[in-house]
Amino acid sequence: MGKKLGVAIIGTGMIANIAHIPAWQALKDQVEFVGMADALPERAKATAKSVGLTEDKGYGDPVKMLEECKPDIVSVCTPNCFHKQWTIEALKHGAHVLCEKPIAPGYADALEMYKVAEQVGKVLFVGQSSRFMPEAEAAKEIVSTGVLGDVYYAETSACRRRGVPKWGQFHIKEDNGGGPVYDIGVHSLDALLWILGNPQVTAVSGGVYTKIANTDEGLKEDLAASGAPEGVLTPRPYSYKEFTVEDYAAGFMRLEGGMTLFLKSSWAANIPSDGFGGTYALGTKCGLKLHPLTLLGVTGAYTSDTLINLPTPARVPFVGHRGETAHLLKVIAGEEEMRVKKCEVLNVIGALEMMYRSSDIGREVTLCEITGNCK
Ligand SMILES: NC(=O)c1ccc[n+]([C@@H]2O[C@H](COP(=O)([O-])OP(=O)(O)OC[C@H]3O[C@@H](n4cnc5c(N)ncnc54)[C@H](O)[C@@H]3O)[C@@H](O)[C@H]2O)c1
Repeated sequence: MGKKLGVAIIGTGMIANIAHIPAWQALKDQVEFVGMADALPERAKATAKSVGLTEDKGYGDPVKMLEECKPDIVSVCTPNCFHKQWTIEALKHGAHVLCEKPIAPGYADALEMYKVAEQVGKVLFVGQSSRFMPEAEAAKEIVSTGVLGDVYYAETSACRRRGVPKWGQFHIKEDNGGGPVYDIGVHSLDALLWILGNPQVTAVSGGVYTKIANTDEGLKEDLAASGAPEGVLTPRPYSYKEFTVEDYAAGFMRLEGGMTLFLKSSWAANIPSDGFGGTYALGTKCGLKLHPLTLLGVTGAYTSDTLINLPTPARVPFVGHRGETAHLLKVIAGEEEMRVKKCEVLNVIGALEMMYRSSDIGREVTLCEITGNCK
C-alpha cells in the first residue's frame, strides 16, 4: 500500500463533523487527517482534537493551514460564498478539492474554479452527494436502458413546510447566496438531470420569494426539521431579522430536445414537507417516480406500478458522503471516471442562476444571458 493521502478540512461546522470526518475515517487505510481550519479557530482546534490531531493543527487562517500542513485533499465545507476562495487557495497549494454543494452561487464563479483546477492539474470534485444514494444510482441505470421511452417532462421538489437551517449562516444572502434552492433544491435538480443523462437547460422562468421566514411566527421548531440531526458545535445565535435569502422558489425550465422540467424548493411555505418525495420523469412508455423508486406503466389492459427493490444503505447520517469520498480517491488514483462532471455542475448552477435572474427581471432568461455568449 502507498503512502496515505493527507486530508484537511476548511470550515469545521456541521457537515464537516457529521459527514466529511466519518466518511474520511471510513477510508483510514488510505487517508489521514493533517489539519483543520475555520474562521472560528476554536472550532478548528476542537475538530482537530476530535480526530486525534494536536490542537495546533486547528487553524483560524486556512492559508496558514495549507502552507504548514500541505494536504493532498481538502474538503471545503464553509458557507457557499466562501467555496470559491478556499477551493482556489487549496488547488493553488497543490491539493485536490472536495467542495460542498453548491459549487458557488453563480455560473461565472463555478467556471473560474474549474479553470484553476485545470491549470494546476488537480481534481475539483463537487459534493453532489444525492447521486450516491441507491435510488438515484438505480434510477440512472434504469433510465439509461430506454425503458421510459421518449422522456418529455420531469419535475422535482425539495420542500419543507418549516425547516430553515438555524445553526449557521444559511439564511444570510451575503454568506450563502441563496436559501433552499442552494441548500436542498440543488440536490434534487442535480440528481434528476444526472438520471436523465444531463440534458442542457436552455431557459428558465422563475419565481423566488421571501414571504414567511423573515417574520416572527413564534413557532416551535426543531433542528432535525431543517436537516441537522446532530453535530452542531456551537450554534450561531439565529434571528429571523437576518433572513435575506428566499424561503420559496419555483422554476419552469426548458431543456434541449424540447423537454421541460419544473423545480420547486422551500424552507418555509404553506405546503406539505415532501422529504424529496416529489421527483418524477414522464416517458411515452412509462413514468419514473424516484422515492420510492417506481415505474408507472401499463401491464396488459391495466395501469401498473413496479416497485424497484433497492439494497438498504448503511444507516449513517449523510450516507452519500461515504460514496463520494471513496469515489474521489478512485478518481485521484485514475481508477474511476469522475461521476460529477464539470459540464453537469455548470448545467445545474447555470439553471439556478437563470431562475434567480428570471425572478428579478420578470421574464424567461436564456442560457446565453448567463454564459455571456448571446450573439
Ligand atoms: N451535502 C449535503 O447534504 C449538505 C448538508 C448540509 C450542508 N451542506 C453544505 O456544507 C456547507 C456548510 O454547511 P454546514 O451545515 O456545515 O454549516 P456550518 O455553519 O455548520 O459550518 C460552516 C463552518 O464554516 C465556518 N466559516 C464561515 N465562514 C468562513 C470563512 N470565510 N472561512 C473559513 N471558515 C468559515 C463557520 O465558522 C462554520 O464552522 C454549505 O455549503 C452547505 O451547503 C451540504
